[in-house]
Amino acid sequence: MTHPFFFTWSAQQNAKPLTLLGGEGAHFDTDEGRFLDLGSLVYQANLGHGHPKMIQALQDQVASLSLTMPSALYPAKTEAAEALLQKAPEGFSKVFFCLGGAEANENALKIARLHTGRYKAIARYRSYHGATMGAVSLTGDWRRTAVEPGIPGVIHVLDLDRGAPTQIPRTLELEENVAAVFLEPIVGANGVLIPPPGYFQEIREACDRAGALLVVDEVLTGFGRTGKFFAHEHEGITPDIITCGKGLTGGYGVLGAVLVHERIAQTFEETVLACGLTQYAHPLGVASAHAAIQVYDEENLVEKAAALEAPFLAGLQALADEFEFARDPRGRGLLGAVDLHLSEEGLAKFKSALRAARIHAFVKGRKQLREDNGALVLAPPLCISEEELSDGFTRISQALRTV
Ligand SMILES: Cc1ncc(COP(=O)(O)O)c(C=O)c1O
Repeated sequence: MTHPFFFTWSAQQNAKPLTLLGGEGAHFDTDEGRFLDLGSLVYQANLGHGHPKMIQALQDQVASLSLTMPSALYPAKTEAAEALLQKAPEGFSKVFFCLGGAEANENALKIARLHTGRYKAIARYRSYHGATMGAVSLTGDWRRTAVEPGIPGVIHVLDLDRGAPTQIPRTLELEENVAAVFLEPIVGANGVLIPPPGYFQEIREACDRAGALLVVDEVLTGFGRTGKFFAHEHEGITPDIITCGKGLTGGYGVLGAVLVHERIAQTFEETVLACGLTQYAHPLGVASAHAAIQVYDEENLVEKAAALEAPFLAGLQALADEFEFARDPRGRGLLGAVDLHLSEEGLAKFKSALRAARIHAFVKGRKQLREDNGALVLAPPLCISEEELSDGFTRISQALRTV
């Protein structure tokens, strides 16, 4: 069957779409039946499916105001910004709104350039920062090399690749003109790579010595995913800029955000902030972000993710115990992975078996990871119950037995 639109990241003839019909909690419904969502769709459905408060908030906003222009004022815009800054570390004073994670990184880079007067950026090979040209230039994985040349001035380092220690402090000594270092607090889509203790402190100090800004990309890891509101909170450092998307609205609205520390925000009291977009702080986007932050709080979802870490990691460990080819189980909060030392055919078979078992999760291929193994990456909605999680691991184990 052909469709009148493109499927992303895929040769069109290889796309295997699911027809979505709705959902509830940790499950979503499709034309193939009810799936247990162990991926939060694409890491954004942290609040779960069909959330009544989110639906109501959007309906209320549509009824009151749904058109805007960038200079306009309305309550949802101020409320969302205030709620976000309350979750940010002390000293963060401004929010720049945009439409998603890539745009958040794009605008963070522009803000860093305007603030420092420098143009270069350091990022890791093991990273994904978004699909727009600047964000994909920061990205280290195959999605950058597919569309190069990217923007000038991005330097990639091997940090965390096969356990490599940080090269960032030395790179900052050897380079000049570095405006910012972009890092996911935990590398997400590239296989859940958790930094060793002290990693972020070392980089924070090196950035300070070099006068470069530290931008943490919390698009995937933020909003409770790792058992803290922001994942960099595990590291005991304060970044200069935080980029947000995905869980910011739980997927119910289209929104990205850049949170900026006061010492950088100050620059733009006099310097023109050369950033903008027509749908800046779209009312439906900011209303859903404000409602989402209330839901995270009211339902204690961040604490829930932290409490579920133990059974979640035990489930991953049990897979490694059962299957010789499943190795290095790891995770934090409700973001986890296990490497799968299987052939591409074995990985494809597992993917089909998972779908037949009505489990939604990420099976990373060897080519995607540029490794001689694949990986299973899990990121269930934070509202999942321990029983649902356990049921999920049982079905994953059954699917792995078919390969
Ligand atoms: C860490 C990270 N940054 C940025 C992005 C890009 O976000 P979006 O797809 O909303 O542009 C993603 C998306 O997967 C991501 O995982």
